[in-house]
Amino acid sequence: MDKLDSRLAAAAEFVKEGTVAADIGTDHGYLICHLVNEGICTRGFATDINIKPLESARALIKEMELEEEIETVLTDGLEGLPEDEIDEVLICGMGGETICGILEKAKWVKSEMVHLVLQPMSRADMLRKWLLENGWTIDEEKAVEVEKHLYTVMSASYIGGSETPDDFYCLTGELAGNSDDCSIKYLRWQAKIQRGIAEGLLRSQREKEHALIHIQLADMIDEQADETENER
Ligand SMILES: C[S@@+](CC[C@H](N)C(=O)[O-])C[C@H]1O[C@@H](n2cnc3c(N)ncnc32)[C@H](O)[C@@H]1O
Repeated sequence: MDKLDSRLAAAAEFVKEGTVAADIGTDHGYLICHLVNEGICTRGFATDINIKPLESARALIKEMELEEEIETVLTDGLEGLPEDEIDEVLICGMGGETICGILEKAKWVKSEMVHLVLQPMSRADMLRKWLLENGWTIDEEKAVEVEKHLYTVMSASYIGGSETPDDFYCLTGELAGNSDDCSIKYLRWQAKIQRGIAEGLLRSQREKEHALIHIQLADMIDEQADETENER
């Protein structure tokens, strides 16, 4: 019944014990059912914007006899959820832009009392930038590989203020400090993407300066990966 892939397993590890979680875009409900079944969360909310995925979550909740502890809600993002009851917001398996949009609309999550666990399927760079600009700090990240795709899972807390992270941070986040194979693979992948962008720009003579910025970024990321590998 416990069907967590490494993405959702990493997300579960970031969830604080004894909390009430809202699993936004729950789909099958695997994450929230795992958290409540294992006693990590005392109870939770499973939400989805679409009825079909919510129905599959309801079926799993029923199968695992967790109806008393997990409430299902058909809603867009965090709309209409009881803000004073939730201390963990989990948004996994969505694009970085969608995650920012959901958080942007729910002002109450901007609180030291609410912890975020986020797993973007794309645009992790823009999500990191948006979080720091909007008062969050990324406490920790974990890189995971699922079916040859690399993802990051983030733990984030609200501290207020606003910071403008540089491009290196946006692309690597807290993974730059990790020494596990998957984090290093993630860094190498990011460096490769920057070199690919530079190559494309170099084909147009007018974009040479712009290309150099991407090459410098790729070099910095590769250097960080080399350094971490050498220190292991
Ligand atoms: C790819 S699934 C991810 C499921 C699960 N969270 C995971 O990581 O395995 C994305 C789910 O998010 C839901 N979704 C997309 N946009 C949403 C929104 N604005 N609010 C709530 N759910 C949303 C979709 O209906 C879908 O069930």
